[in-house]
Amino acid sequence: MSVIPSREDAFTLLKQYNKSDSLIRHALAVEGVMGHFADKFGENREKWQIVGLVHDIDYELYPDEHCQKAKEILESHGWEEEYVRAVVSHGWVICSDVEPKSMLEKTLYAIDELTGLIASTALMRPSVSVLDLEAKSVMKKWKDKRFAAGVDRAIIDRGAQMMQIDRNELITETIMGMRVVAEAIGLKGNL
Ligand SMILES: [Fe+2]
Ligand SMILES: [Fe+2]
Repeated sequence: MSVIPSREDAFTLLKQYNKSDSLIRHALAVEGVMGHFADKFGENREKWQIVGLVHDIDYELYPDEHCQKAKEILESHGWEEEYVRAVVSHGWVICSDVEPKSMLEKTLYAIDELTGLIASTALMRPSVSVLDLEAKSVMKKWKDKRFAAGVDRAIIDRGAQMMQIDRNELITETIMGMRVVAEAIGLKGNL
């Protein structure tokens, strides 16, 4: 029998596998953004948030088996296939062959790396905050390939294409999602 996890189940499970603060903050950022997009698209907010929250659950302990281990972990807890598939699909081409198909999956794919670029951009600001950050500042950093060099811009663009949304709108909406959880992700800054 498959389980539809609650947000509490998901967070408890996440903390069981992740001790790193930076990974927890990333998980909370992705959760916040997924919630924002779920509302925007009239989708199931809790489901989208949960998938965002646990998408990197295996990364701390099994970085070389990322996505595959996540599948095992979630399946061992009986999680419903839709959740498991969505988590695995965020590594499409990189560490999984599951292509994002649903809007939930496409959104996760598009915003995962982008939250990193936005966080790095916010940290450079005098306010150290996402609350006063605008898309145009992120766009400037987007073009500087040495800035947050680990953020693969091509993946974000591929995600935006799948979502049929332009890069600017994707960035704007992702910032809005991160603002909701600004405090929890350490990006409220001094505002
Ligand atoms: Fe990942
Ligand atoms: Fe991630």
